Amino acid sequence: MLFDPAHRLWLLRGPTTSYAVRLAEDDSVRHVHWGAPLTLAQATQVAERAAPAASSFEAVAGVDELAVEGGARFGPPSLLVRFADGTRAVEWRYAGHDADGEQLRIHLRDRHYPLRVTLHYRMPAGTDVIERWTTVENPDDGAAITILRCDSAAWAVPHRPAYRMSHLTGGWNSEFQLRRTEVPVAETVLTSRRGITSHHANPWLAVDDGTAGEEHGEVWSTALAWSGSWRITLHRDPFGRTTWTGGFGHEGLSWSLAPGETLQTPVFAGLYTAGGFGSASRAWHGYVRGHVLPHPGETRPVLYNSWEATGFNVDEAGQLALAARAAALGVELFVTDDGWFGDRNSERAGLGDWVPNRVRFPAGLGPLAAQVRRLGMRFGLWVEPEMVNPDSDLYRAHPDWVLHMANRDRTEMRHQLVLNLARPDAAEWAHAWLDRLVREHQIDFLKWDANRPFTEAGWPGHADPDRLWIGHTRAVYRIMDRLRADHPGLRIEACAGGGGRADLGILARTDQVWASDNTDPVDRIGIQHGFSQLYPAQVMGAWVTDSPNPATARRTPLRFRFHVAMAGALGIGGDLTAWTADELKEAAELVAAYKEARTVIQHGTPFRLRGDGTLTAVEYRHENEHVVLAWCPSRRFGHQPAPLHLAAVQADAVYRNRDTGATHPGALLLYSGLPLDLPPGDHASALVRLQRLS
Ligand code: GLA
Repeated sequence: MLFDPAHRLWLLRGPTTSYAVRLAEDDSVRHVHWGAPLTLAQATQVAERAAPAASSFEAVAGVDELAVEGGARFGPPSLLVRFADGTRAVEWRYAGHDADGEQLRIHLRDRHYPLRVTLHYRMPAGTDVIERWTTVENPDDGAAITILRCDSAAWAVPHRPAYRMSHLTGGWNSEFQLRRTEVPVAETVLTSRRGITSHHANPWLAVDDGTAGEEHGEVWSTALAWSGSWRITLHRDPFGRTTWTGGFGHEGLSWSLAPGETLQTPVFAGLYTAGGFGSASRAWHGYVRGHVLPHPGETRPVLYNSWEATGFNVDEAGQLALAARAAALGVELFVTDDGWFGDRNSERAGLGDWVPNRVRFPAGLGPLAAQVRRLGMRFGLWVEPEMVNPDSDLYRAHPDWVLHMANRDRTEMRHQLVLNLARPDAAEWAHAWLDRLVREHQIDFLKWDANRPFTEAGWPGHADPDRLWIGHTRAVYRIMDRLRADHPGLRIEACAGGGGRADLGILARTDQVWASDNTDPVDRIGIQHGFSQLYPAQVMGAWVTDSPNPATARRTPLRFRFHVAMAGALGIGGDLTAWTADELKEAAELVAAYKEARTVIQHGTPFRLRGDGTLTAVEYRHENEHVVLAWCPSRRFGHQPAPLHLAAVQADAVYRNRDTGATHPGALLLYSGLPLDLPPGDHASALVRLQRLS
């Protein structure tokens, strides 16, 4: 970090990027530069070029790092407050800065009212990612301050002739659909009002000038580390600037900051890359591994999950039959999904009663866990700690523990309600039973689900009920953190009805994400493509299930299903008791092939390769090893997919196919493409392992 006191300008520098901010005359912190590396002198020159306001109708010149209400500001504010006397605007006074190692803190306070704000900037060593967050404090001598909005950060990109945004949208069974669209001259809001990250939008956004491609062009992207409701507002003004602000909570919430209290936002991380969307993804993956995940070096085990095989019809004998077959396939972690507890015979009852069902598991979970271990596998369980069925002993005992509002219905979704874990008693209860369960059975893995959004999110009797939107998510984080600390061997999969809770916040305390309940391999290619924009392969849970697929009724060959699921942390979720001997044999071979390739897939660097529309592929590189997974969902008559040009090989090196022994000069892999042995017909796929020889 460099500081120019004369110009009151700070410059942060990463390996290939720099970021500069300065103090304006009114002591607000203004954006100067985010992009290619600049010297301090160059950044100062950029700052001096700031254009004056265009007319008496326009805002103050320059872009705020955390825009407030007050003065001539008309764009989307990042921080909105109301003081006890009704004043809403903020006027800043600079209160110093400090920096240690990777972090810069710029301190501000209001000129009159007891409000202190710190803008935090951190560039973790070796990355170009800038982590930004805000703390707001009400020092111990004033009245309460009402916070109407408190974002983590606002971002600005340099002036360009055009702007395009890339974002992820979708729904249940269709998460992570990548959309690229011109940024309208308007305010565009990406948000979740659901209390979870959501299937419908993911808190990731990339902006370019409309010309970036997979391997070329400047891309500015940001990702919010938060697993509850959130909002990102992108603003393209009529004069050619694009900025965005984002943070936790959605519009309309407020909370009261009591004297002595501090509010800290989650991290909103930003990344500038000059090598296209592929290089942006690779840099994000490096950041997630290096600075977010708890166990990035660990190779994710091949898991089996019982959900699609049994639904709620879970019992000891059935699970043991599946476990025996799973172990024979080479599965390393056996996970019993929903249905093992309480009166959970359907989605109508039992959620909240976390004791093994006495009919289905007469001797508890002990015999199943022991047999799974004898078979050489680890043992995992599905849980949904934030939810309750009204038809449960828990709800009968504590009807006041759920989110609810006086004089309003309690809207049920999937016959369940949401527990208010912002309540210390409910959170303590959730931690206690989880801790007991993990301890009693030495559970290796929890699939932590959340199968509905918030509705009627009230807290009758509480003076500041909107706090629960943040308090609930923080309680989830605290419970997970405490469980992990007390059970160092425990691994957690994040899930919310599939991919409804994937974000950098949850990834800081989980090991993988269940990306979608949709296990159709053709649909999955698109879901996985979107997921890979931000999140690395090692956290992407992907199962092979039965054909026809239960969601889409599409029939696909086992090999194709495996090759698609191998692009992440491979799992199997089919009804193995119905698989033929031939299918089981082929599946065992494919699991073995995955184990040969997974170091490269899980720990390597991915290059997304696009063919001619019929062929899609990903090339993973790890040291001298390369793995290519190629998928061709359908082909028209007489049409051969165009050659698959590899992206991560060197022209002057030679590569050997590890399975066939054939050698390929790198120059040909780059320019003529990789020969693929694709079977005829639809749903063709290939797994190719190459080793660099020289
Ligand atoms: C959610 C999950 C599924 C399964 C069911 C169980 O939908 O995404 O994988 O665990 O809940 O009810």
